[in-house]
Amino acid sequence: MPLNVSNLYSGYGRVRIVQDVTMSVGEGEILAVIGRNGVGKTTLMKTLVGLLGTLHGTIEFRDQDISRMHASRRARLGIGYVPQGRGLFTRLSVGDNLVMGERVGGIGATNRRRVFQFFPILEERLSQKAGSLSGGEQQQLAFGRILAGHPELILLDEPSEGIQPNIVQEIGRIIQRLRHEEGLTVVIVEQNLELIHAVADRCIVMDKGKIIAELTADEIKEPEVAKRYLAIAT
Ligand SMILES: Nc1ncnc2c1ncn2[C@@H]1O[C@H](COP(=O)(O)OP(=O)(O)OP(=O)(O)O)[C@@H](O)[C@H]1O
Ligand SMILES: [Mg+2]
Repeated sequence: MPLNVSNLYSGYGRVRIVQDVTMSVGEGEILAVIGRNGVGKTTLMKTLVGLLGTLHGTIEFRDQDISRMHASRRARLGIGYVPQGRGLFTRLSVGDNLVMGERVGGIGATNRRRVFQFFPILEERLSQKAGSLSGGEQQQLAFGRILAGHPELILLDEPSEGIQPNIVQEIGRIIQRLRHEEGLTVVIVEQNLELIHAVADRCIVMDKGKIIAELTADEIKEPEVAKRYLAIAT
């Protein structure tokens, strides 16, 4: 099992946000984490990748307990994270941003061609500053940079945020290709219904730091379900 989380708690200082989260993600599965603003989705992702400490509970990656492992070691084990807001080095070039990602996989892990196969625009923009790219291009760079580190599991935090609808569709297609061609396992935090429909095998719903429901991709299509669990105006 790529990811197996039991009774996880985490938060900021004394404030507990993530509470008693138990979840698992199967090999090659695409799991969506949904929920309204501020319910703790990003906090959960940060805890899984090690940017926030685990207060209680366990996180296992391929049967290894990584709950107390440093974020950089988790990344080297094969966990890639595309943060909300993308986390690019905006004053560095596209190429240098990719180098940062490649370092995670260690020397010799350079696989630019593979990254460019998925994101040809990055090759065209190689010497341009990351901050000068469009929102959609920046999201592709954030994604490509993680891919350069050879992940087996990727966590994406709201990749559709601030991106035009046609690029959102493109991101959806890329996520599916990564699963089919590279066997990647994906956890995606999303509020964009179209993207969730397009890619997710299964959805878990968060509210106030807890998982309150689990839905199939078909169930999420019901308008009243979406209204209940997502921050969308209907
Ligand atoms: N660095 C921080 N320090 C203290 N509290 C924080 C910090 N970051 C987030 N929080 C609080 O934790 C709670 C959960 O925030 P989080 O960012 O995980 O939610 P989210 O579900 O990702 O929201 P969104 O959909 O807006 O991205 C919120 O109440 C937020 O105010
Ligand atoms: Mg968030």
